[in-house]
Amino acid sequence: MAALQSFLVCLIFAFAVILIPTSTSAKLSADFYHKVCPKALPIIRAVVKRAIIRERRMGASLLRLHFHDCFVNGCDGSVLLDDTANFTGEKTAFPNLNSIRGFDVVDEIKATVDKYCKPGVVSCADILAVAARDSVQILGGRSFYYKVLLGRRDARNTTKNDANINLPPPFFSFAQLLSNFQSHGLDLKDLVVLSGGHSIGLARCSSFRARIYNDTNINQSFAASLKQGCPANGGDNNTAPLDSTPAKFDTVYYKALLNSKGLLHSDQELFKGNGSYSDKLVRYYSYHSGHFAKDFGTSMIKMGNMKPLIGKAGEVRLNCRKIN
Ligand code: HEM
Ligand SMILES: *[C@@H]1O[C@H](CO)[C@@H](O)[C@H](O)[C@H]1NC(C)=O
Ligand SMILES: *[C@@H]1O[C@H](CO)[C@@H](O)[C@H](O)[C@H]1NC(C)=O
Ligand SMILES: *[C@@H]1O[C@H](CO)[C@@H](O)[C@H](O)[C@H]1NC(C)=O
Ligand SMILES: *[C@@H]1O[C@H](CO)[C@@H](O)[C@H](O)[C@H]1NC(C)=O
Ligand SMILES: *[C@@H]1O[C@H](CO)[C@@H](O)[C@H](O)[C@H]1NC(C)=O
Ligand SMILES: *[C@@H]1O[C@H](CO)[C@@H](O)[C@H](O)[C@H]1NC(C)=O
Repeated sequence: MAALQSFLVCLIFAFAVILIPTSTSAKLSADFYHKVCPKALPIIRAVVKRAIIRERRMGASLLRLHFHDCFVNGCDGSVLLDDTANFTGEKTAFPNLNSIRGFDVVDEIKATVDKYCKPGVVSCADILAVAARDSVQILGGRSFYYKVLLGRRDARNTTKNDANINLPPPFFSFAQLLSNFQSHGLDLKDLVVLSGGHSIGLARCSSFRARIYNDTNINQSFAASLKQGCPANGGDNNTAPLDSTPAKFDTVYYKALLNSKGLLHSDQELFKGNGSYSDKLVRYYSYHSGHFAKDFGTSMIKMGNMKPLIGKAGEVRLNCRKIN
């Protein structure tokens, strides 16, 4: 009897040893700050809301920051690091230069959160994940709410080259976009769903010039009106909205693709009108906004799970722009 008992105890213990580490390691959780900083999420939301009221575009800029963070070495706050004498960070990489924005708002969020909680509790990587969700929800409505998983820590290094290699440029073909997403553990559906991020925000002339002057699968009157603000030469920084409702998170982006009115070459690559699976998804989301909202949340969570630093890896930065 005693032998059986100790055998069972051993068995249970063995299971515990196997189960405990796997169930507590390498996992983000929705309630990560519940005890250590219960006000973190409401504070982030309030600052994001204020920033969007100041400037509607800021919601788009914050969403893009999280995307660019995650695609370069995982969601680790690396995009926020300023260049130093020791390394050149991501901010001057081609996809970010003169384009990525929102850093002042992230600083404002960080300062406010750290005033209410102890400094060094809420990571910059988590701030980006929450600010992206809040932006989408504020500009898209309740149906765009999803639970953000938390517990990421911040990177202590990065390189400009990592950003150049990992972020997809707007001249990519469908095959190149897909292979880029797959290299990050995302699939075709994630590509189509997450590109719906282009429902909000603006792009510079230099990002869509080749499309409006050279692409053939573009509505000609749409192209003609864009050329007025984007000459063949010069005006690189002039902007145009990514869809016709750039301050509303909605399915107008997909409707535009059906009409050859995608602004970026990469956008229109998702819909060629030949019945591909990508075509079918674009058409589906163009009129199923509830499904778009649900799937967007699912894919954002998947993107947010990319290679996070967890446990003792990395650090929680005190200033999002530099390592401690
Ligand atoms: C599929 C591959 C993607 C490509 C090639 C791409 C490319 C671009 C480009 C070229 C711009 C304009 C930048 C400029 O001219 O300054 C842009 C803007 C933007 N992108 Fe993407 N993007 C992609 C995916 C995504 C994803 C997955 C998201 C988020 C889920 C996203 C969110 C945004 C937002 C919100 C803006 C507007 C930012 C603002 O107005 O400040 N993009 N993207
Ligand atoms: C650069 O690296 C050196 C040695 O690791 C360190 O002492 C110095 O503080 C770093 N400088 C900056 C600006 O981070
Ligand atoms: C575009 O804007 C950036 C600043 O955001 C500036 O440095 C650059 O010179 C501008 N380029 C042109 C062509 O105006
Ligand atoms: C950052 O540092 C770690 C450990 O020193 C190293 O393994 C990793 O490759 C570095 N990453 C980058 C982007 O330099
Ligand atoms: C259009 O294509 C031609 C030929 O490939 C190229 O020389 C030209 O630079 C392109 N124009 C733009 C605006 O990209
Ligand atoms: C292009 O867009 C214009 C304006 O929305 C529309 O009137 C026209 O029918 C479209 N052209 C084609 C070929 O779909
Ligand atoms: C649709 O066109 C693209 C290229 O334009 C091609 O790669 C794809 O195989 C086509 N799909 C179908 C279902 O014809």
